[in-house]
Amino acid sequence: MNKQRLDKTISSQGLWSRKDAKTLIRKGLVCVNGVVQKSADAYVDWDSDTVTVEGKALQLQQHVYLMLNKPKGVVSATEDKEQTTVVDLVPDELMRKGLFPAGRLDKDTTGLLILTDDGDFAHEILSPKKHVQKVYLAKVNGSITDEIIEAFRTGVNVHNEYTTLPSKLSVVSREEDGDWGKVILREGMYHQIKRMFVSFGLKVVELHRIRMGRLDLDESLEPGQCRPLTAEEVQLLNTREEIAFED
Ligand code: URA
Repeated sequence: MNKQRLDKTISSQGLWSRKDAKTLIRKGLVCVNGVVQKSADAYVDWDSDTVTVEGKALQLQQHVYLMLNKPKGVVSATEDKEQTTVVDLVPDELMRKGLFPAGRLDKDTTGLLILTDDGDFAHEILSPKKHVQKVYLAKVNGSITDEIIEAFRTGVNVHNEYTTLPSKLSVVSREEDGDWGKVILREGMYHQIKRMFVSFGLKVVELHRIRMGRLDLDESLEPGQCRPLTAEEVQLLNTREEIAFED
């Protein structure tokens, strides 16, 4: 049994705020199992009840999948005694027991991070075997040369510890104090992009993830904001995109 308050159930869809949900309920636009329900604090069972808003049935998901635009300065952890974590940023109405970040971005890295309470799903998208791609914009304190692009393409030997899988690097813009590059990885080793650039004497000064699988970061999310993924977006995240790394 998976019971939740009616207003929370409606706002969990990501289409309405908790306040909107209360208004819809008060106006008699919400039915539970075909009967108008005017109490926001009524409980509904997500496994067995049908909830409609203006006649449209809600998809009551057993698990929650959130897209966060991670800001700088927060850690990709569930809890931390001293530092703010990505889970601390989740508003009450989207909070679920057991929510955790599916993967990690460094404290100073920004952009797309998925939070979920679905361990199997997280395992799927993070499994190295799956090769779900991640796309980043990286600003470095110097010039991205053809030699570096070629090395990313074939695999970079990182501090004699490991050689990366082929990845894709392209120049996005060149600025006085350094270049912006786009990096596409299909693995996620610790500090991978920073360490790859360090191998060529470059420091990454900004790092922002814009895509995972086929899912793009929603540009309308301010840093620190999150929203639930739609069912289609959950699918996109779990879809491999074949990029020809070796061309
Ligand atoms: N590579 C890094 O170096 N840091 C990140 O946060 C992600 C990829």
